Amino acid sequence: MAGICSEKRQYEEGDIVVCRCKEVTLKEIRKWISRGYDTFDELKRLTGVGMGPCQGRGCRDIVMKEIARMTGKTLEEIGTGTYRPPVKPVKLGMLTEANKEDPWKGKVVSH
Ligand code: FES
Repeated sequence: MAGICSEKRQYEEGDIVVCRCKEVTLKEIRKWISRGYDTFDELKRLTGVGMGPCQGRGCRDIVMKEIARMTGKTLEEIGTGTYRPPVKPVKLGMLTEANKEDPWKGKVVSH
């Protein structure tokens, strides 16, 4: 008797999620590379890869290596694409606390 746990699911290599933040699969990346979009910035604009909260820390290397593999170019030839500073949430309470500790608060500054 086959139980629920014995059921095997078959995944194809293309179903692998390369960008966890934006849920972009390897299949999608390969589709766009095969159409001639072979830079990270182009793939970023088309798929959103690299535009999640980690700003590509989790997926940039994977995508760059896939571009290199499919095009036969070196990583140096492809380039790294545009980097943006990571977005990090800041609690509003931190901003108000920082304002309380302002060393210039209450002092008169003359010019
Ligand atoms: S894993 Fe791609 S942006 Fe975070």
